[in-house]
Amino acid sequence: MAAALQVQREVESLRQRLDDWNYRYYVLDDPSVPDAEYDRCMQRLRQLEQAYPELLRADSPSQRVGATLLSQFAPVTHELPMLSLDNAFSAQDMRDFNRRLLERLGMGARESELAFACEPKLDGIAVSLLYRDGVLERGATRGDGTTGEDITHNVRTIRTVPLRLRGRGYPQVLEVRGEVYMPRAGFEQLNARARARGEKTFVNPRNAAAGSLRQLDAQVTARRPLQMCCYGVGLTAGGKLPPRHAAIMQCLRQWGLRINPESAVVNGIAACEHYFDRLASRRASLAYDIDGVVFKVNELSLQQRLGTMSRAPRWAIARKFPAQEEMTRVLDVEFQVGRTGAVTPVARLEPVFVGGVTVSNATLHNADEIQRLDVRIGDTVTVRRAGDVIPQVVSVVAAERPAAARPVVFPQRCPVCNSPLERESQGAVWRCLGGLVCAAQQKAAIRHFASRRAMDIDGLGDKLVEQLVDAGLVANVAGLYQLQREQLLGLERMGEKSADNLLQALDASRQTSLARFIYALGIREVGEATAGNLARHFGSWETLAAASRDQLLAVPDVGPVVADHLLQFFASRSSMQVVEQLRASGVHWPDVEVSAPQALPLAGQTWVVTGTLDSMGRSEARARLQELGARVAGSVSAKTSRVVAGPGAGGKLSRATELGIEVLDEAAFLALLREQGVVP
Ligand code: IVH
Repeated sequence: MAAALQVQREVESLRQRLDDWNYRYYVLDDPSVPDAEYDRCMQRLRQLEQAYPELLRADSPSQRVGATLLSQFAPVTHELPMLSLDNAFSAQDMRDFNRRLLERLGMGARESELAFACEPKLDGIAVSLLYRDGVLERGATRGDGTTGEDITHNVRTIRTVPLRLRGRGYPQVLEVRGEVYMPRAGFEQLNARARARGEKTFVNPRNAAAGSLRQLDAQVTARRPLQMCCYGVGLTAGGKLPPRHAAIMQCLRQWGLRINPESAVVNGIAACEHYFDRLASRRASLAYDIDGVVFKVNELSLQQRLGTMSRAPRWAIARKFPAQEEMTRVLDVEFQVGRTGAVTPVARLEPVFVGGVTVSNATLHNADEIQRLDVRIGDTVTVRRAGDVIPQVVSVVAAERPAAARPVVFPQRCPVCNSPLERESQGAVWRCLGGLVCAAQQKAAIRHFASRRAMDIDGLGDKLVEQLVDAGLVANVAGLYQLQREQLLGLERMGEKSADNLLQALDASRQTSLARFIYALGIREVGEATAGNLARHFGSWETLAAASRDQLLAVPDVGPVVADHLLQFFASRSSMQVVEQLRASGVHWPDVEVSAPQALPLAGQTWVVTGTLDSMGRSEARARLQELGARVAGSVSAKTSRVVAGPGAGGKLSRATELGIEVLDEAAFLALLREQGVVP
């Protein structure tokens, strides 16, 4: 008996801890334990629940994914209808909205400024969650506002949806409303995986969220990166809520539900416009799509006096951003050859203003994507540009296809050097086999070699690389150091001064670092961070080039794919010849001290640097962190310990916020360096 009691206590304590960590991670954006510890506790809980099935409860954190497969969704009637919102498209529309409010409330314009709750308008799917006695009883879609569908089994899999509420003071019956959405990073990953497998992709994160919720098998939903953010309350019974919207939202947060951290309360319509402008300028750097801002009269008593029209409340309005999707026409499809020979089809478009910029090209990714979209030249297509993501053609408007539309023919040979193309064994990419014979690959390799973060050859811009390769003066990066003044002077528009400057820049670039050199070689999948890790790990070129697969795999950031690309590079006679030629023409670097990583203060941590810093370049920031023993990675993942973010940080910062990873601004980063005795 005593033993059974002890097990029960342990199960309860595990559930409590897992719930707490989830709350810290998903609601407070403040993770408190490493993933491994979370996983260990979850495993232990599962073990105990399996051994003692009588202790199993539906609201246990282990019970997110049920085993039953539904055959259809049951209808759910919303006792209080789920309303829609009126839209405002301009500052004038907002002033009109404010005027209507004041008139209805019988207030003079100058008499008072109304308090508004401001919230991002998430672009997802409206969902209602019903809690009874703090336990999640039902999740439902909005449907037509009156009748939706029961999707309890699917909302249970969303980590931001608590299976039971925390704390106390919640009404006995509490219906919470909010938006289920898919953050952009998760959406891109999901689509990239689908594309690589030749499967159907989703048009946008909103459709992906909708499709994920409409699964009869919750196992599928559980694998989709969904989130939920709450923005209101529906039915309540057996309890009281505060008299203001924003205060209710704070209650929801305390009870374990996620609300949007960008929310704010402002006074007056001018302040609303200011909030709107500020959020609009940050739209691209948010981790998720928003299509506007929702403004709500904060005082519930005023909301009641204003009332509701048939489909939307009078007390709220959605101020919309410019669209992220627009229609335009495909003028042509061209094929670009990249540094690694990958052939990418690019649609040339009739210019269209979308997502805040004019777009005239959009990637079509690969041959499979062309087939999947069934896009033809002359077609009208929907183009999407969200955040800093490159513009995409997401669908063809079939009804608008002109009779003269031409199918896109994927080339059989390289459009630049006419070498045969080969399809990658896994994946949809066709590559030109011309290697260094292919002018497109030559040019791309030289551009990369000369770039600022690689050999930093000042004055060797894209145009000049083009000229040098086309004139046959340079065929690979080693050829750069053989260039003669006379040869340069023979080029069109090349004056004496420019020629001398270029030669000087080439000369200066001879002195570099091992990390830059490795990066400059453009080995597939070896970015700046990996190059730095390789340099520090091996200390010299010779040791690196002689490393075995296992030795390579011991380097942070190096997985089987990268290791194989490295081995392929070292096994290639022509690549090694280029390296020898470079070194023979004087390219050199000091050997790197291979540090004993354990002794250093940031040992075992993985950092990411993003955005611009005032006091130093990103590469210097990375170098400083590495001095302190940190690994520096190129992308943010669950393994990232901390992120340094300056202004202009985009996707990486959003991803970090989404994963709840600690972000340091420049001041905090400098303070840390000083603390550790590193003076920038
Ligand atoms: S309030 C009575 N707040 O927008 C007010 N809606 O166009 C009902 N939405 O169906 C909604 N973010 O799915 C509200 N912060 C927010 C929202 C939001 C997104 C969606 C919601 C609703 C649609 C109305």
